[in-house]
Amino acid sequence: MPLDGGAEAAAVAPKVTLTVVSPKGEQTTESVPESTLLAISGRMKSPIASGCSDSSCGTCRVEVLDGADNLTGQDARERATLKENGFPATLRLACRAELVGGSAKVKAFEVV
Ligand code: FES
Repeated sequence: MPLDGGAEAAAVAPKVTLTVVSPKGEQTTESVPESTLLAISGRMKSPIASGCSDSSCGTCRVEVLDGADNLTGQDARERATLKENGFPATLRLACRAELVGGSAKVKAFEVV
């Protein structure tokens, strides 16, 4: 194994790319796969807003503009929260949806 194996491994580590469009502009950042959109956006200057710790409020809702196939699917909890808060079923909760590979672009309705 070469002495610089660590650097080599870091260079090929899988990454995902998230772009968030909001009233504050467009931001893009990279992260490791299988992180929630909310967690990834935490690396941005204006992260997606959140309002609860149990996926119940819908504050973090986003519209997926591109890369929907790179996200985990909706689970029952996410569908219930969208319905209970009167949001379209086509939206996603950034605190539930994970970016598993590639890239995604979302529109955030509320950012910090
Ligand atoms: S932060 Fe409340 S539903 Fe995602």
